[in-house]
Amino acid sequence: YLLCFGLCCLHCVTVCACVPQMTVTEYHVRSSVVSRYAVTTVHSSVWNQLSVTKEAAFEVDLPSAAFISNFTMAKQMNNLGKINQKHSKSGLVIKREIERFRVAVSAPPGARLSFCLTYEELLIRRLGRYELSLGLRAGQPVENLTVEVTVSERTGLSFIRVLPLKTSRLLNGQGDGDPPASTLIEKNKKCARIHYSPSVQQQTSLSTQGINADFIVHYDVELRDIMGDIQVYDGYFVHYFAPRGLPVVPKDVIFVIDISGSMIGTKIKQTKQAMGTILGDLREGDHFNIITFSDRVQTWRKDFISETSAESIVTDTYFLLSSSGTNINAALISAARLVSPLSGSSSRRVPLVIFLTDGEATIGVTAGDTILSNARQALSTASLFGLAFGDDADFLLLKRLALDNRGVARMVYEDADAALQLKGFYDEVASPLLSDIQLTYLDEQAFDVTCSLFPNYFQGSELVVAGRVKPGVKDLKVAMSAVDSKQRVKLENDVSVAGSQESDSLDECVGDLEGMSSFVHRLWAYSTIKELLLAKLNTTDPSLQRLLADKATNLSLRYNFVTPVTSLVVVKPDADETTTQATNHCSSAQQSPSPHSSVV
Ligand SMILES: *[C@@H]1O[C@H](CO)[C@@H](O)[C@H](O)[C@H]1NC(C)=O
Ligand SMILES: *[C@@H]1O[C@H](CO)[C@@H](O)[C@H](O)[C@H]1NC(C)=O
Ligand SMILES: *[C@@H]1O[C@H](CO)[C@@H](O)[C@H](O)[C@H]1NC(C)=O
Ligand SMILES: *[C@@H]1O[C@H](CO)[C@@H](O)[C@H](O)[C@H]1NC(C)=O
Repeated sequence: YLLCFGLCCLHCVTVCACVPQMTVTEYHVRSSVVSRYAVTTVHSSVWNQLSVTKEAAFEVDLPSAAFISNFTMAKQMNNLGKINQKHSKSGLVIKREIERFRVAVSAPPGARLSFCLTYEELLIRRLGRYELSLGLRAGQPVENLTVEVTVSERTGLSFIRVLPLKTSRLLNGQGDGDPPASTLIEKNKKCARIHYSPSVQQQTSLSTQGINADFIVHYDVELRDIMGDIQVYDGYFVHYFAPRGLPVVPKDVIFVIDISGSMIGTKIKQTKQAMGTILGDLREGDHFNIITFSDRVQTWRKDFISETSAESIVTDTYFLLSSSGTNINAALISAARLVSPLSGSSSRRVPLVIFLTDGEATIGVTAGDTILSNARQALSTASLFGLAFGDDADFLLLKRLALDNRGVARMVYEDADAALQLKGFYDEVASPLLSDIQLTYLDEQAFDVTCSLFPNYFQGSELVVAGRVKPGVKDLKVAMSAVDSKQRVKLENDVSVAGSQESDSLDECVGDLEGMSSFVHRLWAYSTIKELLLAKLNTTDPSLQRLLADKATNLSLRYNFVTPVTSLVVVKPDADETTTQATNHCSSAQQSPSPHSSVV
């Protein structure tokens, strides 16, 4: 069984028979990043060289933030075979799982099939860099395997690097090391081109079943203007705001940690480990406190204490597990009580509540809506960050709590690296620079603008606003108002705006200037859909939910995005298949009689 594993069906599904697999003749991943907006195409061609009909499966792992925007499948005939209508119909219904796209069709002997999936995403700046992660999972060594990445950033690249192939989902520190063998990186001031094309030998040396890993690129941009970078193309604009070099504002941070019975064992151990490093990393001037809860709530100290006495706290006795039961409501109220007296105090600190739970509310108030409204009233201006530890946590409730209270929610996966995940999340919010940031576009030239009021701006992150401008507008004035380490500041200026004329300077990077200017338009649609979906989550009014879902659906259809409110169906035209052109390239226009996708 194990010996023949390497010869199994294309993607090693559950049943493993000792039969040779179809040949993947080509596997190409191309990604073009223009100003953080990444369009990625995964193209795979398979050939059924066997004498029996087999299932050809095409699987792509994509980032959960990405939207699929195109999928095509092409068949090539040769003299030996004719694809039977009946066969090719099977498996054409595509279900989008959270992060895996899969389609399977049966391929008669001699058939050549080519799959091509395109997805789009806005890369998010975290801890001072953007990450582009490309899954390479052909299921076998491939003769012709390439990865091609271009990155163009008009304000300049401060660095770009390719990480070693990531073969495990686990975080492993900072992933230092050399790029995989045969990686070429060409870089100039504003753009970079990366080419990776390992030989079969190089692939086999990684694993006899070929590469099964993520190819990861990290980069950051220069951004000298304190007001950021605005780009206007064809009636749409995007504004990237990420001032560098501001002083860090001290914080009052409360860790609210679930210690109910279900946390027992590994989870509490990892939490303690993470808390040890986190408390060790508190900055001078930071104050903190810890609340633990199960059916009861224990507050470590009556008041916040300064960072100097942090390390002594994470003792076994403090994290002693109590009984079962998860009283989320009481824990939130206790946290809010600690925060609220601060509102009047003169010292400027950013109040943050980091709330970790691995379960659902089971004791005290358990109705989600009541917990939400209680928390909203109690927390006032504190930002609440919800960490859902493992699959049993009520992630939806945490997301809604965070939306309501100036924060975000994250999953912490129950895995060997959970402590690193926790620490990584904390690092993202550890250095507040500005609060209550309002970006305003002057002279009433902008409309349909995405959210432009942000509760916090953390070091290493970025705020992004997209919108439309009135016809003919090439310039946009922006005003910013925010609270920094001392006071409310207001700035107003003209940001040097990139327009169509700017494209020239990026010529040498991207061949495709058309794609270059349409990115702002698609980025606007992408961001607007995301925001509508969030707003839908943040309301309980059914008619408002329906309206938001409708709007999101309309936009998704218009821009051909597969989103949670749409689904992808593959349409198969009735054309005579024997006339199908041989197509190797995803971009080829001559695919008419082949199945194509549409979003419904
Ligand atoms: C690999 O595939 C690409 C795209 O189909 C093609 O242009 C190229 O010629 C192929 N290279 C080899 C060595 O077959
Ligand atoms: C969610 O709704 C609440 C009011 O119900 C509002 O205060 C909050 O700003 C909303 N959050 C987002 C992200 O829109
Ligand atoms: C969505 O599109 C349909 C059909 O084009 C239209 O009737 C409807 O009003 C649109 N809904 C929203 C919320 O824009
Ligand atoms: C999808 O991809 C195919 C082949 O690359 C192309 O012909 C088609 O225009 C694309 N569709 C969209 C909506 O981009």
